[in-house]
This record gives sequence, structure tokens and C-alpha cells, in this order.
Amino acid sequence: MCGIIGYLGPQEAMPIILDGLKRLEYRGYDSAGMAVISDHTLAIRRSLGKLIELEKVLRQEPLPGQVGIGHTRWATHGRPSEANAHPHLVDSIAVVHNGIIENYLEVKEQLLKEGHRFSSETDTEIVSHLIAKNLRQGMEYLEAVRRTLSTIRGSYALAIVNAQEPRMLVAARKESPLILGLGEGEYFLASDIPAILPYTRRVIFLEDHDLVVLRDEGFQILDREGQQVERTVNHISWSPAMAEKAGYKHFMQKEIFEQPRALIDTFRGRINPDSGEVILEEIVLKDQDIKDLRKIFLVACGTSYHAAMVGKFYLESLCRLPVEVDLGSEFRYREPLVDSHTLLIPISQSGETADTRAGLTAGKELGAKTLAIVNAVGSSIAREADAVFYTHAGPEIGVASTKAFTTQLMALYLIALFLASRLGRITRDQVRRRLRDLLKLPNWVQETLDLDVQIREIAQRYMEARNFLYLGRSLHYPIALEGALKLKEISYILAEGYAAGEMKHGPIALIDREMPVVVLATRSPVLEKIQGNIEEVAARGGRIIALTEADNYQVQERVESFIPVPGVPLELSPIVLVTPLQMLAYHIADLRGTDVDQPRNLAKSVTVE
Ligand code: AGP
Repeated sequence: MCGIIGYLGPQEAMPIILDGLKRLEYRGYDSAGMAVISDHTLAIRRSLGKLIELEKVLRQEPLPGQVGIGHTRWATHGRPSEANAHPHLVDSIAVVHNGIIENYLEVKEQLLKEGHRFSSETDTEIVSHLIAKNLRQGMEYLEAVRRTLSTIRGSYALAIVNAQEPRMLVAARKESPLILGLGEGEYFLASDIPAILPYTRRVIFLEDHDLVVLRDEGFQILDREGQQVERTVNHISWSPAMAEKAGYKHFMQKEIFEQPRALIDTFRGRINPDSGEVILEEIVLKDQDIKDLRKIFLVACGTSYHAAMVGKFYLESLCRLPVEVDLGSEFRYREPLVDSHTLLIPISQSGETADTRAGLTAGKELGAKTLAIVNAVGSSIAREADAVFYTHAGPEIGVASTKAFTTQLMALYLIALFLASRLGRITRDQVRRRLRDLLKLPNWVQETLDLDVQIREIAQRYMEARNFLYLGRSLHYPIALEGALKLKEISYILAEGYAAGEMKHGPIALIDREMPVVVLATRSPVLEKIQGNIEEVAARGGRIIALTEADNYQVQERVESFIPVPGVPLELSPIVLVTPLQMLAYHIADLRGTDVDQPRNLAKSVTVE
């Protein structure tokens, strides 16, 4: 998704904007640009490709001035090119935008009829033209902006500068995230928190239809009706270092290794192993609401969807309630059976995924009670749900989701224990035992992280493969899917996750020497069946990489490679099994030289359909 940075203050804007754009690179982009006002002169610099190209342009032609906006573009309308890069300049107006303007074609046609000349293929350029047109008609600047916002439809986070108002910065948001950073006598706009952490931790999460006006003497936030509104100022606890690589080669690698701490931070303050209690103050459901529940619906996308699949096991087995799991992009177009006796749980690391957010909106309209599981504090999904369970994973910068996933599993397990306790489906003693196991989980995960060298050696053996198959059963089937997604999205190898029991129904036709098969084969009620699948694959010359306990010699002797994982209670095995798969994908991608943190075509948060 696109990244936006804005600055107004006493410092030179260019270096701050460039630094901020670099901190947003993980969002994925294909071009970049900047506009800065100096006195009453507005100049823009843009470039195709990575920020290093924009830096070259800025070195030759710097942008002096203290008020400016910057942008990294992830192309939606119009191919990646310098002409399509933001900002888009018309008369005295420059605009950067994240989102999709759905009625841009009809507006553009009208503007063309009126004589406007366009220099790009983007939807965004119509915003600059509309504001310029309104100014030419004599409208006051803010009214010109507000009239423009009432003309366009779709999603937007906008930052706007006007050479005629050199000490003013204007921004607006609807459905695409935008935050306002409050410095000492200076202001920052950004698409995400890491971009401004070095400058301030005082942040306002703008809401839909907010219009922000920044001046040296202060800021105003206006609502849809033009009325001034107050917004909460949040203090972000993350340090800038948390958003840095801290010596790791990639953010993804750092975030894989942060998982023991992230798991501790997620259950800290929420469990009491001595009393056998799970304390979730964020769940505001009354006892009767919980007793009246007849269904739970989990809605998510991508990796978060795989977490939802594991969550189904937890919630059904512990709460004895029917649980449905759906992709955000499917749920929003179905006629799901949801009512006031349904608890809808959207799961999202970014809290901005458009399809998941639309699922939340649809569920609320159908009367569901909603509890979001989100990592990004203050994000749209977090604010729009009745309640939110924050996974305290810290900023996840790598596009491939890792620590967010394992903390989502932790969240789902705690929520299941909490609800089961409130429903009387589980005794204090049973909770006590499970919580005692939970306290060991970070160490078990650390044991898998200590296998890093062995896993890299395995990665070297299989890095040239063109296809991979991942097999798992029961609680491990979603982990097979997740392992495959990790590999395909960062190494570009075609990898497919499959329910192992389905092998005879098709995939076994694929087995040959060329396709490694990763099998999750730890002790479980279905281990014998998995061993049967291993035999099927081995008998056809398949090359098997098994994840199994260090003392499971029966499995080890039937496979080509194996990763020895600690033996843990079944319900915690998804968390312990996924980390070696994250590491395997990471090392294969790193060895293949792909862009691990910003894989091609991908964005960290998919804020458009
Ligand atoms: C996972 O590695 C991907 N980055 C992607 O599938 C991601 O999980 C999905 O886009 C959902 O994102 P969210 O958790 O922020 O909603």
C-alpha cells in the first residue's frame, strides 16, 4: 500500500520526509515523490523505482523549505512510472494519496470537458484538479478542499500543500489510515506509526471524514460537517529501536526471533496461573451475553485467516460453540447467518485490511457482537469493533507476517479459555494446568529458534526447488497452509499447503523427486495417519522434510530431512511448529536473493479491495 509523509515545522522538510518514507518502505511501493514549499514556490521531485532513485534526484535538485509532503506509490490506477508517481501538481496545489477514488473516471471526463489537461493515468490527479478548479472559481482554500472531498467517492488518505498558503498543511482520511504526530512546535502526518517514531510518540489516529488543518500556531480537526472535533492523543510505547532492524539482516528475521518476547508481552497481565484465571478486561461482554452466544464467526485474510482456522479448533473444543471461519473477501459478499447471538471476531495485524474491515461492518449491521484481535494500536478495525484484544507483538515491519501470527494464536487460545471459563465448560484446575504450559511456551519457541543453523542447511538443500507441498492434519493443517504461504510470498516458489488426508484425492499425483514435501509429524491423535502419508510419499520417491520430536525415530528414519521440535501439548503445537516453517521460508528466500522484507507486488497492509 502507498505511504504518506507530511511535515510542517521549523526544520527543513526534505530530510524528514525522506527518512519517513524509508520507514514506510515495508508497505511496498514502485515509485516515490515529494513536494516542498519554499516561500511561495512549490516544487516537486519524483522518481520511478526505489527511494534511492528519489534520493539521487534530490541530491542534484534539493527541495528547500519547511512544509512538505512525500509519498511511496503502490500502483493501483496507472502503471508504475515517474508521471504517475505522486505528488500530483496542478496550479498551486500538490496532493499525495493512498486509497482508491471509485468515481474518478466520471469526474475526469467532466474535468476534461471543462478544459483540464491531465499528465497522469492516476485516479489521484483529479483531486489536484478539483481543488485548483474550486480555487479558480474564487472559493476559499479549505472550502475548496471540502467541496472536493464531497465530490469524490472511495477511500483516501490525502496530504495537500498549497503554494498560496505556504505555512499550512492539510490532510483528510476516509478508510485509508492516516495518523497525526504532535511534535514540539512541529507536526507530522504518516500512514503508519514507525515513520514518525524518531520525532514524536504523541499520535492522533484520524477517523473517517476527518479534515486536518496544520499551521505553525496549532492544528484543527474538522468533521464531515466542518465542525471542530477533539481526538484522543495516544502515547505510543514503541521505541524507535523496535521499528529498526537491531542488527538483523531483515525485519522478518528480527520479528521471527522476537516471538518469545511477543508471546510473553501478549499473555502478560492476562493470566493468573496460580488461581487458574484468564483476565481479559477488554472483553466487555456481560455473563448473560456470553451465555446467549450461539455461534462465533472468525473473519480474516491471509496469514490472519490461517490463525482463524486454528482458532476454530480452540473455540469449538473449549467452548463447545459452533465456529465459522471465513475470508474477509468472501464474507462481505455472502449472506452469512449472523445475528445478535453471534460473536464476530475479525483478526488483523494491521487493523486496516479492507476486506476484513468490511466483514466487521457487515457483521455489526447484522447485529453481531464484535471483538477484534489486532496488533496495530488505534487502527480502524480496533476502533470500530465493540472490543479489541491487542496482540502486543510490537511493530511488524516485514511484509510476511510472523510474530503477529503467533500472538494471534495466543490471543485466540486465551479468548477460548476465557469464554470456556465463563460458560462453565472448563474448571479452574484445568485452566491452571493449561496456563502453566503456556508459561513454558516462549522457551519451547526459543528451542526452535536455536535450530537456525540446521534450518539454513536444510534451506540450502532445497532452495532450487520449483514447487513445495506442505502437509498437515487437524490443528496442523492451518500451519501447513501458513508454511506454504510464507514460502511462496517471499521466495516466489510455488508452494501449496494441503490437508494430508487429501493426498489420495489428487496431490499424490504431484509427487516426484523434484518436489520437496514438508510434513508436520509431531505426536497427536492423528500421527499414525500422518505416518501413512509419509509412507505414500516416500514410496513414490518424494523428498520429505519432517517436523517431528527429537525422539521420534520412526518418523526420522523414513524421511530425507527432519527438524527436531520440542514435544508440547497439542493445543500449543501450532505455535511451536510454525516458527521453523517461518525460518525455512526466510532462509530459502534469503539464499535465493529475493527482497525478503518487501516481496514483489505485495504490501504490508491491503487497505484496498
Ligand atoms: C501474510 O504474511 C501476508 N502479509 C498477508 O497474507 C497478511 O496476513 C494479510 O494481508 C492480512 O493482513 P492483516 O493481518 O493486517 O489483516
